[in-house]
Amino acid sequence: MTAETVSGRTALITGASAGIGKAFAEVFAAKGWNVVLTARRTGRLEALASELASKHKITATPIAADLADPEGVQRLVAEIGSRGLIIDGLVNNAGYGVPGYYARTAWKDQKDFLQVLVTAPCELTHALLPGMIERRFGRIVNVASVAGLMPGTPGHTLYAASKAFMVKFSESLLLENRKHNVLTSALCPGFTYTEFHDVAGVRQRVAKFGKGWWSTAEEVAEAGYDGVIQGRPIVITGGRYKLIVAIMKLLPEPLALRMVAGRSRSFRAE
Ligand SMILES: NC(=O)c1ccc[n+]([C@@H]2O[C@H](COP(=O)([O-])OP(=O)(O)OC[C@H]3O[C@@H](n4cnc5c(N)ncnc54)[C@H](OP(=O)(O)O)[C@@H]3O)[C@@H](O)[C@H]2O)c1
Repeated sequence: MTAETVSGRTALITGASAGIGKAFAEVFAAKGWNVVLTARRTGRLEALASELASKHKITATPIAADLADPEGVQRLVAEIGSRGLIIDGLVNNAGYGVPGYYARTAWKDQKDFLQVLVTAPCELTHALLPGMIERRFGRIVNVASVAGLMPGTPGHTLYAASKAFMVKFSESLLLENRKHNVLTSALCPGFTYTEFHDVAGVRQRVAKFGKGWWSTAEEVAEAGYDGVIQGRPIVITGGRYKLIVAIMKLLPEPLALRMVAGRSRSFRAE
């Protein structure tokens, strides 16, 4: 693991009230970063902030924000500014899935999904990036998914598309800003033990995948942290997923599509 001096620097982590975001907060704090934790569940953020502050002797600031609100990012950035916080690290992590086939879902659900998983990370990055460039230091992790590196699936229709978007967005940001010492990485986990599948209501469906398919949130966050400080454009967690992604790239698209569709039907809700 590459060590770098981060004492006194502050990272903003979205979706820090649970799962991978919470694990990222723990990893950043353990490395000596101050953290700003955001999500909707204030109680959880406050409890995590006070735990991290006393455990790691850092400053941890909880700020509630609903990223589905089109003004959520603007308000969050204003709140950060009014507290005099300077953000040098950003983890765009908040996310969830919308179960079901596209035609059967409500547009409001898809619109909110795009707001949280695509527009909010883009807007947040756009607001914080100029300061990082000016200070010649920035570390940005966009939490994507192996789904973004593979063909689309039936069900959770915009999920793979949104994650593929985050992968390409991360690559472009890295190329544009590496010269300013602002590094961006797309973190692509496979199945991870978090609340994600409970929120999507597919816990029973995914339970049929054995332990070898799963990582812990801590493993994923550690890999994401190491990946961004090493300037790796894409970080895939788990050897099994690296192999699957590599094989998929070699297959003709129609065959890859058929294979992924067959497999995903067993866990994606119609
Ligand atoms: N778990 C997996 O298998 C897996 C695999 C690949 C990628 N991922 C990605 O990892 C990221 C984190 O997911 P997770 O697995 O850690 O799920 P999780 O345990 O359900 O956590 C999701 C986080 O997102 C926040 N969030 C959801 N909607 C929000 C909103 N409208 N405004 C603000 N925050 C919101 C939640 O906080 P509040 O509810 O408190 O707002 C929570 O902190 C997601 O981008 C997901 O797509 C997960």
